[in-house]
Amino acid sequence: MRRIPLARFLVVFSAAFFSIALLAGCEKLDRNMYDNPAFRPQEEPVRLPPADSVPTKGLEHTPKPGTPEAAALKNPEKATGFSLLTGKELFGIYCTPCHGPSGKGDGPVAKKFVPTPVDISGTGFGTAPEGMLFAIVTHGMGGMPPFRSDLILKERWLVVAYVKTLK
Ligand code: HEC
Repeated sequence: MRRIPLARFLVVFSAAFFSIALLAGCEKLDRNMYDNPAFRPQEEPVRLPPADSVPTKGLEHTPKPGTPEAAALKNPEKATGFSLLTGKELFGIYCTPCHGPSGKGDGPVAKKFVPTPVDISGTGFGTAPEGMLFAIVTHGMGGMPPFRSDLILKERWLVVAYVKTLK
């Protein structure tokens, strides 16, 4: 019987051993990825807040336009020369493209809308309660886009206060 030299035996054996170990390692990694601690869909019941809990922070709540709650909203911002100036600047940026500088709906992109933007100056919709205007700016309406993510609460009130000055 031919004897395999010990050195060659060791080389072949260790090569085989390490490739098996490596493969086993991969397999193990694979299992780990699969058995991770994350929840799979529908695995845990949704954890609801305890009954009677009241949210203390989170998204603002603005009633929808057309509701009595919206009409009853009052502007928390004091009208000063500076706040009106800020409102005018914001109106110039966010509203004039559609409503025009006068608010009468003659902005450069107004004609693209069906229905076209209404007159929101004092001769038109601007006579609506300020809370209603605020709700419309917040949620949008028909072709009118919502501004709750472009303008923070305070900025929306400043714009509304400025709209109220449009004659
Ligand atoms: C992309 C164009 C566009 C922009 C920008 C825009 N509006 Fe309008 N807005 C409209 C259109 C269109 C209407 C008519 C919506 C309808 O009645 O379907 C409208 C309606 C309104 C109304 C009256 C709602 C109604 O129809 O009774 C108010 C108030 C108003 N916009 C205020 C604003 C203010 C304030 C801004 C700036 C923060 C603004 N809009 C920005 C397009 C726009």
